[in-house]
Amino acid sequence: MEEINAKTQMAKIRSFEKGFMATHLINLGAELGIFTALNENKEGLTVSELAVKLGLHEPYLKIWCQTAYHFKILDADDQVRFKLQPFLDEILGDKTNFKNYLANISLVVKVGEMMKLLKESLQTGKPVDSYNTPEFSEMAYEPTRNIPLAFLFMILPKADHLKRNLEQGIRFLDIGCGNGNLIIQLAQSFENSTFVGIGLDAYGIESARSTISQLGLGDRVAVEYMGGEVMPYEDEFDMASMVLTLHETRPDVREEVVKKAYKALKTDGHFLVLDFPYPSKLEDFRNPVFDMGISDQFFECSGGFFHLDNQQQNQVIANAGFKGIQRMPIGKGMFDFVTATK
Ligand SMILES: C[S@@+](CC[C@H](N)C(=O)[O-])C[C@H]1O[C@@H](n2cnc3c(N)ncnc32)[C@H](O)[C@@H]1O
Repeated sequence: MEEINAKTQMAKIRSFEKGFMATHLINLGAELGIFTALNENKEGLTVSELAVKLGLHEPYLKIWCQTAYHFKILDADDQVRFKLQPFLDEILGDKTNFKNYLANISLVVKVGEMMKLLKESLQTGKPVDSYNTPEFSEMAYEPTRNIPLAFLFMILPKADHLKRNLEQGIRFLDIGCGNGNLIIQLAQSFENSTFVGIGLDAYGIESARSTISQLGLGDRVAVEYMGGEVMPYEDEFDMASMVLTLHETRPDVREEVVKKAYKALKTDGHFLVLDFPYPSKLEDFRNPVFDMGISDQFFECSGGFFHLDNQQQNQVIANAGFKGIQRMPIGKGMFDFVTATK
């Protein structure tokens, strides 16, 4: 084990500080279009060229570029033409690349502002309702935009029976559908199936309705503003999913939502849960596999949301009546995919 002394501890704290600065620098670079410009000019741009192209103030831009060079985000040639470091064109430059991470950075910066409210929650134990804005809604679904790809290329190939059912034609219910991204993309891939999404984000539902109508999918995809705990469905669906939703379902209604999912499914119907794994014992709070769940829980607790560990998830699913609970890690353990049957 690495020796711990005052010097290593100071270095650790300084690295957090640097990460904070680098995160803001990246977010500014994204908002000002600097990464897009550098991505489009792979041979590099001088500060003057970049300033003219983006209409930015050159002396300040120079400091941004030098600092980005310090953080090893940018390299420079002997003409001091700045360019993105290798592979950062995928991660910070090309917004269409599935590895692009700018949406996460922008969400982290936004969440950082909102985390001031966490102080009040820690003092009072009361959740704050700061997430309920159109702006936050739009931002929140950007980092999860690739979930449908995870379904199509990582999950369904490992769960062939689910894929076959979707191909043959089934009724699919997505509880906590957000902006409808998953069911809309599944509907495009599985033309014999029909999809219903429900959720409690009015802005997300509005956005889903508009995409469904733009894509002409209205005959096979529908969404409703509705909590899972009041779903009226009975023996209607072959599959029901909760994607990054079980942990974001308020604890006082969580059991009821899963029970209503059970009721909504036909006999032998499949319940699918995709969520971040969350540790059950303290030593696992330092295991990198739980990084996402731990960070997510930290900022979301001010909203009154609580992540479940594996055993707690299984318990909620079993309590609703489901059997045959199975779990598989997805994306090197970033997510857990749980299936159960009615
Ligand atoms: C992190 S978002 C995930 C959205 C979407 N599944 C995705 O992957 O982008 C969690 C969603 O759970 C929904 N939600 C929270 N409580 C709910 C409840 N009681 N019933 C239905 N949906 C709920 C929220 O409206 C939100 O859209």
